Amino acid sequence: MKRYVILISGRGSNMESLLDAGLPGECVAVISNKPDAAGLASAAARGIQALAIDHKQFASREDFDAALAAEIESHAPDLVLLAGFMRILTDGFVRRFEGRLLNIHPSLLPLFPGVKTHAQALAAGVRLHGCTVHFVTPALDGGPIIAQAAVPVLAGDDEAALAARVLVEEHALYPRVARWHLDGRLRLIDGRVRLAGETAVRGALHAPAIG
Ligand code: GRF
Repeated sequence: MKRYVILISGRGSNMESLLDAGLPGECVAVISNKPDAAGLASAAARGIQALAIDHKQFASREDFDAALAAEIESHAPDLVLLAGFMRILTDGFVRRFEGRLLNIHPSLLPLFPGVKTHAQALAAGVRLHGCTVHFVTPALDGGPIIAQAAVPVLAGDDEAALAARVLVEEHALYPRVARWHLDGRLRLIDGRVRLAGETAVRGALHAPAIG
């Protein structure tokens, strides 16, 4: 049975969508960098080991990442899923987990990396927005794209309305991609995404029709 670890920082709704998807693997730990993350309680309620490593207790980013990496490695995961994990990771950490480290980002990358993605999309006036699942590399939100889901930006949208529309797609997309990895179909080879059986684009991009 494959093993996976989920990293969170807050609410944990993407974590819940992964845990509830019946993935072909065992979630062996949920780790938050914030002790008060609401997602820790919902992971524990599902019988999953949930713990916090408070980044504020560490003198440097390197020290925190070393502690986080050691904790993750102690669970010997095949896959590490960043799910609303709001810390920038050091190059050393990212390289250590390369090929088994995924992130979901709430924009159609490479548009709108970083934070406040929905505000960025509204300010830019784009008509399509969405989410991206990618392999994590040292470039912030810049790793190879595996799959994307698009939603329309509608007249009258504010940040909250747009975020909610994107979140529905996040909850569908991330478990789908995690399943590919756990099934052994998804790999990062020489910096490129390889998905056995179908192309990444044909398999995952879906844009709802706009009326
Ligand atoms: C999600 O939109 C995620 O993509 C972003 O932050 C949000 C976290 O939500 N990075 P949750 O903690 O998964 O509910």
